[in-house]
Amino acid sequence: MCGIVGYVGLKPVADILVDGLEQLEYRGYDSSGIAVKTDSKIAVYKAEGKLQNLKDVLRAHTSEITTATMGIGHIRWATHGAPTVVNAHPHTCNCGSLVIVHNGIIENYKELKEKMEKLGCVFKSQTDTETVAHLIAHKYAQTKDLTKAVSLAAQEIEGAYALCVMHNDLKNTLVVTKRNAPLVIGVGEGEYFVASDVPAIIKHTKKAIYLNDNQIATLTPDSLKLINSNGEELSPKVEVLPWEPVALSKMGYKHFMLKEIHEQPDVIRNILFGKLHTPAEPIILDEVKLTQKDLKDLNRIQIVACGTSLHAAMVGKYLIEQFCNIPVDVEASSEYIYRHTVTDEHTLVVGVSQSGETADTITAIKQSQARGSHILIITNRPDSAMARLADSLIPVNAGIEVSVAATKSYIAQLISFYLLALYLAEAKGSLDKSALESFKAEMMLLPQKVEQVLGTTDDIQRCARVYSSTKDFIYIARGINYPTALEGALKLKEISYINATGYPAGELKHGPIAMLDETMPVLSILMNGSVYEKLLSNSEEAKARNARMIALTNSKDKKVEELFDNIIRVPDVQELFSPVIAMIPLQLLAYYIAEFLGKDVDQPRNLAKSVTVE
Ligand code: M6R
Repeated sequence: MCGIVGYVGLKPVADILVDGLEQLEYRGYDSSGIAVKTDSKIAVYKAEGKLQNLKDVLRAHTSEITTATMGIGHIRWATHGAPTVVNAHPHTCNCGSLVIVHNGIIENYKELKEKMEKLGCVFKSQTDTETVAHLIAHKYAQTKDLTKAVSLAAQEIEGAYALCVMHNDLKNTLVVTKRNAPLVIGVGEGEYFVASDVPAIIKHTKKAIYLNDNQIATLTPDSLKLINSNGEELSPKVEVLPWEPVALSKMGYKHFMLKEIHEQPDVIRNILFGKLHTPAEPIILDEVKLTQKDLKDLNRIQIVACGTSLHAAMVGKYLIEQFCNIPVDVEASSEYIYRHTVTDEHTLVVGVSQSGETADTITAIKQSQARGSHILIITNRPDSAMARLADSLIPVNAGIEVSVAATKSYIAQLISFYLLALYLAEAKGSLDKSALESFKAEMMLLPQKVEQVLGTTDDIQRCARVYSSTKDFIYIARGINYPTALEGALKLKEISYINATGYPAGELKHGPIAMLDETMPVLSILMNGSVYEKLLSNSEEAKARNARMIALTNSKDKKVEELFDNIIRVPDVQELFSPVIAMIPLQLLAYYIAEFLGKDVDQPRNLAKSVTVE
């Protein structure tokens, strides 16, 4: 949930570090810091709050740091200790000669802290990380070898970490290691870059080494030595990154979120490209490696995911059960991993994750993999840790999503589930030809329909103005749009901090109806199809309790105008594809409300884009 960077080479380091941190801001943004090796010492600079505050601090110290060519940096999402300057990384040992930056959680930090205190270490921060700084410094004092010191310390650490370490004795040496946290090394000419993620290095080099767990790399400007936890030397595997440097530009939009919402028609086109040519041709999923025998033996599918990805998974369950008649369970990864789950070699386990880094989902996948299940990963990051665990992969190709609130990646995940469900249906022969062709034809029309929704946002903006002062918001839906209600409510909560809840409309009368009065907005996702009439009745029940009624609908029914105070209209679409069309106005509604309230839309409080802690 934090971002780390490092550089050793011949160029002035401070700008490289700060620029790298800027690319990693999505991982956290409550404080930041860098440490650079100057001629005489290691200088540490930190600031609370956004990265701009660190830039301001550095501006006052330009002359001290211009000659430094080695350093490390960190952007934090607080886990242990408040987001203050003292708790910001880099952390140092007692005398300040050794500095580290860390992403992850040191689970045994209390025991380690006690041990280090007994050895005379004085702790300045409340972080788990500081124990590691003291521990490595202690090992270094014994061995006078920084790589050895890191290796010995790693044997005592429990938990997850990506670490970048430097010592004042060593003018040109960085030591990095990782376990259950991402770390990539960029290979330049006479220089190495270290980062939690590719965007921080891609503008400098396309050559990279992904460190595996428990490996340790020792970097100087012209050498890289890689060892495993036994100290055996390994040959590093240099990969060419399939990325172009992307200017993270808002392209004239006020926020990344709005830009990303507007990218969705093209995101759908991209994901369909090469996979769905015409309604008459079969779906092509090159990286799905299920054999005919796997498919024949398959008796169950389990999908694990968190947050927005979990909502996409819920739609996926609906589709796969409907198209393929295979039972599907969906569960939040954080629940799945702490109970006795029943999976075996006849279960297909699907992990869904925008980032491919979510710790709970990675753990869930590893658990099921150990029980012999085939692992299929749906992710926006085919280079991620999760993708590397996959037996089969569906890369969603949504492009970098900067805004913390997931929008285009959600739509891309939905499209992936349509493709997967139809692919499985074709392989199993569970749908007849005309049904298959009709679904595929409808899917090919989705980009235009999404464009239509994006073309007329007046109703949505009007609603946003009317409802921006509410403290609570209820979203109701049934069937395949129940996850849409959950996702719509999540979007609103995340960026406007309004207490929004999604309910299956049939559940309203079993409790939540008690909340309704003339102050409560109830947004009904009323799409034509099998549950339309039922949802209309549920909406009437809410209206009878004086709730402020909003319809998101593609119905031309007169009753809608009588029943609802505000109506957001969307194009007609087959019921099974309505989650795509219905989601776009809900993303926009959340966006316009947050924008109207003056919230920090792209970087909402307390959140981070990648959640790499369990
Ligand atoms: O990268 P992932 O899809 O695994 O992330 C899961 C959630 O943390 C993520 O979807 C989160 O809920 C988003 N901020 C929602 O907008």
